[in-house]
Amino acid sequence: ISLKKYNTFGIEAKAKQFAKVHSTDELKIILEENKAQKKFILGGGSNMLLTKDIDALVIHIDLKGKKIIQENDDFVWVESQAGENWHEFVLWTIEQNFGGMENMSLIPGNVGATPVQNIGAYGTEIKDTFVSCEAMTIENQEMKTFIKEDCNFGYRESIFKNEAKNQYVITSVVFKLTKRNHKINISYGDIMAELAKNNSEASRLNPSLKEVSNAVIAIRQSKLPDPKELGNSGSFFKNPILLKSDFEKIHQQFPEMKYFDISDTEVKVPAGWLIEQAGFKGKRFGDAGIHKNQALVLVNYGNATGQEILNVSKNIQETVFKTFGIHIEAEVNVI
Ligand code: EPU
Repeated sequence: ISLKKYNTFGIEAKAKQFAKVHSTDELKIILEENKAQKKFILGGGSNMLLTKDIDALVIHIDLKGKKIIQENDDFVWVESQAGENWHEFVLWTIEQNFGGMENMSLIPGNVGATPVQNIGAYGTEIKDTFVSCEAMTIENQEMKTFIKEDCNFGYRESIFKNEAKNQYVITSVVFKLTKRNHKINISYGDIMAELAKNNSEASRLNPSLKEVSNAVIAIRQSKLPDPKELGNSGSFFKNPILLKSDFEKIHQQFPEMKYFDISDTEVKVPAGWLIEQAGFKGKRFGDAGIHKNQALVLVNYGNATGQEILNVSKNIQETVFKTFGIHIEAEVNVI
């Protein structure tokens, strides 16, 4: 079976075997029955680059459902099954005036994948609202609960990309959201600029969850390509984190370089800026390219192979390193 429609890059690759599971019982059975087989767990396919056929049983996690599991006057605990589309889930929370997800509107992919790389946007990360997730061990089909402290969340990092890699299938996630006194975060310049387009002063200074979400959607639509129209996996690289002492030296040479302080000793440099300065923004190599509005996003114009995209990414890494002496690391999972 072709995996083209199961990865947002739209890469043509084949799975040796393919199964869709709709419940944890089905998942358990399929894992039990295929003990000896190599297995590959597939969620929304929005953060991976397939560079070859998958010589394994591909299990597509299609568990659906979301519900309130607990609430008090201030907070609500909502549980979503892993196969729910992330953005639809976010919109559902906003419709009910539950706060915490609005800045993460329109991120592609499914709920089950969000803890893996601690997804984030516009000053908010999943770890800010994450309570726990349920996961099944691939080896023995046992359920295990991971609370936030177990997950070692960091910038686009978690235990699921490290010690626990390839050992679990996340089946559901619980988030704690606000019912009142929402902690609106519009500190990100782009959001403020977008809200400034609103006519009413109230919505600029004290926007509703829906207004923040709409602003985020508008920003993302203006910068980021829609995977349905142009294959991509969002940011292809992570923004590199440098020691301040190293950064100072580079900054002297490139005073116009953008950066954000993230601690007393570290700064984050926008990889999009580095890639743009290195001359790649909007460039095209066959069907593989660099998006014209956001250099951090690699795109597939139609029939690029994963290998072609990977080659472009290596070319970018090498040129950025030669130009600035900064190594940028892929954020996307290269398979
Ligand atoms: N920039 C450029 N040229 C570009 C792109 C960016 O100079 O082509 C500069 C911008 O001027 C800006 C800075 O880089 O000063 C940051 O750009 P932007 O706000 O677009 O965010 P980003 O750092 O490039 C990160 C996340 C995105 C997330 C945005 C908004 C990572 C790897 N990416 O991108 O997440 O939406 O911030 O919070 O951290 C994703 O992970 O797939 C993703 C899209």
